[in-house]
Amino acid sequence: MKIVPTLLGFSAVLGSSFQTVYGAATQEQWKRLGESLQGRLHPATPLSAPCFSVVNGKQVPRNESACREVQQGYTNPDFRFPRANARMILQWETCMRTSEGCLLDSLNPDNSAAWVGKDCKQGSIPPYFIEVAGPEDVQKAFDFAKKTGTYLSIKASGHDYKGRSSLPGSLSLWTANLKSMSYSKTFTPEGGNKTHAAVTLGAGATTEDIYKFADENKFTFVGGYAQTIAASGGWVAGGGHSVLSPVYGLGVDRVLEFKVVTPDGKYRTANEFQNQDLFWALRGGGGGTFGVVLESTMLVEPVMSLRVASISVPQNPDNAHQFLSLIINETYKWNQEGWGGHMTSVSLINVNPLLTLKEAQKSMKPITDFALVNNGTSVVEELPSWQAFFTKYVLSAQAVIGQPTIMGSRLMPTELFKTDQGRAQLLNITFTELTQYKTDPYIILGMPTVYKYTEGSTSITPAWRKASFQLGGSVRYSWNSTVSDIVQIYREVTERTQLARAIAPHSGAYFNEGDLYEPNHEVAFWGDNYPRLLKIKKKYDPEGILDCWQCVGSRGLTDPRFSCYLPLL
Ligand SMILES: Cc1cc2nc3c(=O)[nH]c(=O)nc-3n(C[C@H](O)[C@H](O)[C@H](O)COP(=O)(O)OP(=O)(O)OC[C@H]3O[C@@H](n4cnc5c(N)ncnc54)[C@H](O)[C@@H]3O)c2cc1C
Ligand SMILES: *[C@@H]1O[C@H](CO)[C@@H](O)[C@H](O)[C@H]1NC(C)=O
Ligand SMILES: *[C@@H]1O[C@H](CO)[C@@H](O)[C@H](O)[C@H]1NC(C)=O
Ligand SMILES: *[C@@H]1O[C@H](CO)[C@@H](O)[C@H](O)[C@H]1NC(C)=O
Ligand SMILES: *[C@@H]1O[C@H](CO)[C@@H](O)[C@H](O)[C@H]1NC(C)=O
Ligand SMILES: *[C@@H]1O[C@H](CO)[C@@H](O)[C@H](O)[C@H]1NC(C)=O
Ligand SMILES: *[C@@H]1O[C@H](CO)[C@@H](O)[C@H](O)[C@H]1NC(C)=O
Repeated sequence: MKIVPTLLGFSAVLGSSFQTVYGAATQEQWKRLGESLQGRLHPATPLSAPCFSVVNGKQVPRNESACREVQQGYTNPDFRFPRANARMILQWETCMRTSEGCLLDSLNPDNSAAWVGKDCKQGSIPPYFIEVAGPEDVQKAFDFAKKTGTYLSIKASGHDYKGRSSLPGSLSLWTANLKSMSYSKTFTPEGGNKTHAAVTLGAGATTEDIYKFADENKFTFVGGYAQTIAASGGWVAGGGHSVLSPVYGLGVDRVLEFKVVTPDGKYRTANEFQNQDLFWALRGGGGGTFGVVLESTMLVEPVMSLRVASISVPQNPDNAHQFLSLIINETYKWNQEGWGGHMTSVSLINVNPLLTLKEAQKSMKPITDFALVNNGTSVVEELPSWQAFFTKYVLSAQAVIGQPTIMGSRLMPTELFKTDQGRAQLLNITFTELTQYKTDPYIILGMPTVYKYTEGSTSITPAWRKASFQLGGSVRYSWNSTVSDIVQIYREVTERTQLARAIAPHSGAYFNEGDLYEPNHEVAFWGDNYPRLLKIKKKYDPEGILDCWQCVGSRGLTDPRFSCYLPLL
């Protein structure tokens, strides 16, 4: 089938203006799809459109009150999550290659320079979306895509750093309203014979929803470090680290079952007992690739108290050098003790479910002492639950959203932490990141270091199992950065990430948080698992109906659907 950009106007059908959709669907086919979905097919213009008086080339009245709402919520994840046309990482609302989009100034959303005399362009926001209510909706979308060549994309929260929940001209399957949650002390995977304490989560259940539900039902959920990540979405599919992962494993280790519609239109249960190949692929092969997950079931833990260390020193090069040296020196020991956490060159918030408070204070003593003599602060305390930790620490420390952000990272092998030479190399590159690349190293202690892994049970790169921390860093840019500025930043992030690749050439990277231009990404994200993942992709999606950037079996830049990605590989 010929896939060409087609201008489709169906204002009569959906009340929308003319927008570009890829595919050969006729108005009649769109109309029938809309009818069969009973009002769940919607047009979308960009989030900030109400602030503009020209939208996709057409004069429109500005909507002052709607614009004000967008300005107020611009960098708030809770504002963005329930909006199908919003992304958390803002370049994915734009077409980077043409610089077209509809952004406000994230640092000052009231800045009228962003909209006065400017055209709000659709960018990478899919012009139509289905508010998915159940498996039949997804089956209809796959059928429609096969018949008409319309591109599909899948969005839960829009947290993806690589734009994989956006796709220009596509029909978006928006799963955010699948918010069901149920807890069972005796969950049995279909076809299995053992029970587990587990929670079953709709594809739109967010971390903050789940943590609250867990607190109310007296269990602990091992999840991500932000409010609105969809735990059944891209988070678990790509790996899913938590600060509790050192002890309790990654998202992929803890999932017991997925309910998923595969591109052949079948609604399947994938677990250890049926569709085992698909289950394995969904445990690390990445979101947006093997099907649309409607729900997942994950192991839970009892309510637990946590020891928390929150330590920081004033930002200056001397402090940063010493602080990095200290945390690199301590990491191997911390790994054994079960610490997880997030660290920068001058701060850390680490969490431990195993040590007593006294042991935790002793374990952190070298850093505490350093902080206290350098005008820093150190708190090592005990909190009664994950919810108490999340509320007190994570809400104010989660990564910034609502701005264009470029990320690169590497899983740093434990071997390096065992020798003076390895630690010296780690200090060298982290300090170089800070001083030469002006990027604060962002270090995540979230590798499953104490956790007992069942060999071969997941499809992420085995490098995760041999790593001590993830070394990353992100750079933000602005609403009016030029294409050449953006190209420059991507290049620098790739170059900076290369420092870490150079000292850890046989390790890998996290699919969800790696470099957009990761060289040899199949090996970096999946290692030896890639050939089997590719076979499974071909089995369930032989026509490649689903395709996303650097996903298993992706056509990459040769496919027109990726024409908004900068061709930098
Ligand atoms: C502020 C912030 C904090 C983060 N913190 C963490 C963290 O603590 N731990 C961690 O591991 N990662 C973290 N991440 C990275 C996160 O795991 C990824 O961004 C992940 O892709 C988010 O998944 P999502 O479904 O919420 O996002 P989306 O952008 O909606 O989707 C991500 C990918 O999954 C696909 N997808 C989504 N839902 C489905 C579905 N139902 N079926 C099939 N495919 C689907 C999408 O098509 C896309 O390819 C963070 C990211 C941000 C921006
Ligand atoms: C402006 O937006 C608000 C939603 O914020 C909506 O209720 C109202 O109908 C819009 N007004 C016009 C004139 O479109
Ligand atoms: C439970 O399932 C496992 C794996 O399929 C099997 O080896 C075992 O015999 C089963 N046990 C019972 C009691 O049925
Ligand atoms: C700590 O702060 C005090 C007062 O601001 C200053 O005089 C002192 O030099 C600082 N000490 C260090 C180690 O930075
Ligand atoms: C870290 O360990 C090295 C030896 O491997 C040592 O030389 C260095 O001083 C230590 N760093 C700090 C800040 O104590
Ligand atoms: C890192 O190592 C390189 C090569 O040995 C050296 O040239 C550079 O100065 C070091 N940088 C830092 C910040 O230590
Ligand atoms: C971008 O916007 C900022 C804030 O409005 C302004 O200070 C800056 O000059 C602009 N840069 C360019 C390249 O237009």
